Amino acid sequence: MNTGSVEVLIPEERLQARIRELARELNRDYAEADQLVCIAVLKGSVFFLVDLVRRLHIELVIDFFQTSSYGAGTAPGEVRIKKDVDVSIRDKHVLLIEDIVDTGYTLRTILDLLHFRGARSVKLCTLLDKSSAREVDVPIDYCGFQIDDRFVVGYGLDVGERYRQLPYVGVYEGGEEEET
Ligand code: IMP
Ligand code: MG
Repeated sequence: MNTGSVEVLIPEERLQARIRELARELNRDYAEADQLVCIAVLKGSVFFLVDLVRRLHIELVIDFFQTSSYGAGTAPGEVRIKKDVDVSIRDKHVLLIEDIVDTGYTLRTILDLLHFRGARSVKLCTLLDKSSAREVDVPIDYCGFQIDDRFVVGYGLDVGERYRQLPYVGVYEGGEEEET
């Protein structure tokens, strides 16, 4: 794979060290919870989900949403649910696990839906926060790294489905951003 247009931003060791810290916080904060429903947004968040939950000692289940935005015929901020979760959310403690919060529209939509379905609590854990790109407010409870408003790939994040398997997060400098 040619990674010539990717400049390393967060190396693998830093990512993993921060994920270990987040896991410690979550183990502490949810120590009393009978069960935690961990929900990731496909596909980008899968790497983070896996590395995070295997460090949790809490009783948990995992599930997935898949969304799409920026598609043909979608207004800015119009997020569609392409795949819904299978588990019941009512009265559950839910932890949303995301790769990156950018404009905030995706998470805003999902958070509203989870509250509407009667979750007992909903918290958001994101690996990356591009807060300067925010257009709608989303409360972030756990954040791995703050990053500048640049297009990043790797560790699950893609440009046109490429680069997801990189073990680090890098800035994509190839131009022509194709978000998915
Ligand atoms: P938001 O709805 O604008 O907050 O962003 C939602 C989705 O856009 C994220 O979950 C990513 O899939 C994608 N995205 C946003 N910024 C980036 C980036 O820098 N690289 C790759 N994907 C991104
Ligand atoms: Mg995503």
